[in-house]
Amino acid sequence: MKKDEAGHRGRGRALYEEIRARMADGTYGPGTALPSTRACAAERGLSRTTVSAVYEQLAAEGFIDTRPGAPSRVAAAAAAPSPAVAMPGAGGPPPDQAPPGARLSSVGERMSALDLRPDAAAVPGAIDFLYGPLAGRDFPTLPWLKALRRVERQRPARLAYDDPRGAAELRQALQAHLSRTRGLSCDVEQLVIVNGSQQALDLCARLLLDAGDTVVVENPGYRMAHHVFEATGARLCGIGIDHHGLRTELLAGVPRAQLAYVTPTHQFPLGAFMTLGRRRELLDWAASSGAWIIEDDYDSEYRYAVRPEATLQSLDGQGRVIHVGTFSKTLSAQLRLGYMVLPRHLVATFAAAKRLADRHVATGTQRALALLLEDGSYDRHVRRIRRLQQARRSALLEALDRHLGPRVAVQGAASGLHLVAWIPGLPREREAELAEAAGRQQVQVYPISRFYLPHAGTCTAARPAGLVMGYALLEPAQIDQGVRRLAAALDTLG
Ligand SMILES: Cc1ncc(COP(=O)(O)O)c(C=O)c1O
Repeated sequence: MKKDEAGHRGRGRALYEEIRARMADGTYGPGTALPSTRACAAERGLSRTTVSAVYEQLAAEGFIDTRPGAPSRVAAAAAAPSPAVAMPGAGGPPPDQAPPGARLSSVGERMSALDLRPDAAAVPGAIDFLYGPLAGRDFPTLPWLKALRRVERQRPARLAYDDPRGAAELRQALQAHLSRTRGLSCDVEQLVIVNGSQQALDLCARLLLDAGDTVVVENPGYRMAHHVFEATGARLCGIGIDHHGLRTELLAGVPRAQLAYVTPTHQFPLGAFMTLGRRRELLDWAASSGAWIIEDDYDSEYRYAVRPEATLQSLDGQGRVIHVGTFSKTLSAQLRLGYMVLPRHLVATFAAAKRLADRHVATGTQRALALLLEDGSYDRHVRRIRRLQQARRSALLEALDRHLGPRVAVQGAASGLHLVAWIPGLPREREAELAEAAGRQQVQVYPISRFYLPHAGTCTAARPAGLVMGYALLEPAQIDQGVRRLAAALDTLG
């Protein structure tokens, strides 16, 4: 397109928007005559062709009436400034306010009231003990690119929607992988690939919960799961955690519950393994309560010193357990790849919900992952990244011991990508102060308070300050330096 032509189009667009805005704010009421195309063109230094094109557009959309030999007039229907004709910033409702009569659903209302905190932004130069993301440099770039290239070469003739449960190759490869690494006995039909475990939780909330239902959750626990359940209008019932995981003896006091959400292999964030006895108690309680159980197995690849425990899914004789896993902790949270192992009788319902939600997870990504699982690259990558994380974990434990010694008590370091550092000499109320003091020393740390349910009593119970310290983003030397800075920050608190 020539430059002149583009300029005219731009100015034509400006004229169009100006006329629409004047209609919306009432300056051009119904019946108002617009200037002739000749007069308008002369006034604005536009060509008549440009002005005529704008008028034709407005006429085609029903905003003005044109008749040969008569002036163009604003159409009656264009008068009422309905949302459809109101131009942004030109008299419509302010963008942060719902238009009169329009309302959110009750789920929408509850979602907008949630306190969803985005991940803290990285501070340049600071040493960041954020738990969650993996380091970009740890991603298996070469095998991944190779797999993607192979997938691209095998693009099917028909680019049709896939099975909502996921690509057949991936479900097949994953079934073999889970049976080998987690002892999960399921068949391919029970597997549904999802956009990260968050989607699995969202599907569970929508399909298994009604407003007013009770959901048992761990306290402290994974708040992204809690929020999903809260949005449905369910009531959360927080159960405390000790060194053996969820305190199942407290379940007897819970009113009839519809669902329990647990992280039995590595309680988030305290890190406990739920003992076999407690797993059985939880299953028995679910049977007597008529409840579903979601088993979130988010980081079981990182077991350093402890032996694998039987999953709840493998102990479940009744089809109550929905096992959820993710590739966010081994590959990347940005891939949005997770899976559910469903009891057979739930598969069709979840497949329908998945189809309605987003049809299915991107097929190319699924097939690339299937190739990594099939040719052994995924296993090699997991072995490598586990070694890296183990070295970082050791560095953190040593640094905490070296720089903080008895001023810190470590919990939950046997597996995973984070640990909890309690500061017995500092009360819970001063956690935020500690994080701020650390920030001044260029080290980012995260108070454990944010993982406790508000209003549940436990968040206000007397306990020392605690930090959830992730180490996946850092190298051992940075970890040592970070803990040295943390110790200096603690000194400043007196
Ligand atoms: C307890 C827990 N479950 C699941 C996930 C992973 O979620 P997603 O698969 O949606 O990335 C995380 C991530 O931090 C987590 O901490």
